[in-house]
Amino acid sequence: MSDVPVETLALRGDDIVKRFGAVTALDGVSLTLRKGEILGILGDNGAGKSTLIKILTGFHQQTSGKLFIDGVETMLRSVDHARALGVECVYQDLALANSLSIYHNMFLNREIIRRPFPFLNNRAMRTRAAQVLDEIGVHVPSVDLPVEQLSGGQRQAIAVARAVHSNAKILLLDEPLAAMGAREAGLIIDLILRLKAKGDLSIIMIMHNYAQTLDIADRVMLMQRGRVTYQREAASTSVAELMDIVRREYRAMRTAS
Ligand SMILES: Nc1ncnc2c1ncn2[C@@H]1O[C@H](COP(=O)(O)OP(=O)(O)O)[C@@H](O)[C@H]1O
Ligand SMILES: [Mg+2]
Repeated sequence: MSDVPVETLALRGDDIVKRFGAVTALDGVSLTLRKGEILGILGDNGAGKSTLIKILTGFHQQTSGKLFIDGVETMLRSVDHARALGVECVYQDLALANSLSIYHNMFLNREIIRRPFPFLNNRAMRTRAAQVLDEIGVHVPSVDLPVEQLSGGQRQAIAVARAVHSNAKILLLDEPLAAMGAREAGLIIDLILRLKAKGDLSIIMIMHNYAQTLDIADRVMLMQRGRVTYQREAASTSVAELMDIVRREYRAMRTAS
């Protein structure tokens, strides 16, 4: 997609390869993410989706290939480095501390310190957490509740809220709707669309449901065995077309084995 002017891109990856010993998890992946865009990534287990996200969030470093953030070539050294550049991730396992309150979780690893005393300012965190959740339309009975008392959808919403409240420019979501019923998934989809509507946020979501992907994403990208095998504007493809591509791949692999 070299036709997209670089200043409109939040992120670009060129020919990214990632090997784990003998395993090639990513075999030359190129992608673009426009500012304000939602990109949905689909693909089977083992396709390399999580590995790609982990490189974009600085958790893994690519074996080769280039990454550009806001037009600047960048080698992400760590999750903190990516975060400093406005890249935030919600991982598949959410990484919430389940026994801690909602508001503590919102500030996990980035607690507000009341200077000059080095202890947490609980009151400020509670107020701020409630404010942030209210702003993005996430409703919980109280920010004092431990996260373990929330539903899967509410926990996902807290994880998303935590990622965006620190001024994320690029939000990466690894299967945010996994294991969710239609109603809960609907709440998260609405939340993501509200965040998008606020402007300035670019989002990459790993998805597994084709219909949900086409509903929420501006563009879809299909990964198979460490490569991008298809990408299209969501409006110009269909569930049937995506299924057909995956079905053909599946048949080809069965015949080959
Ligand atoms: N830390 C790791 N060490 C070794 N192999 C890994 C590691 N992470 C992922 N892989 C391998 O890389 C491939 C892609 O995995 P992954 O990115 O998790 O796929 P997906 O998220 O699409 O299911 C798989 O073969 C997986 O076993
Ligand atoms: Mg994965």
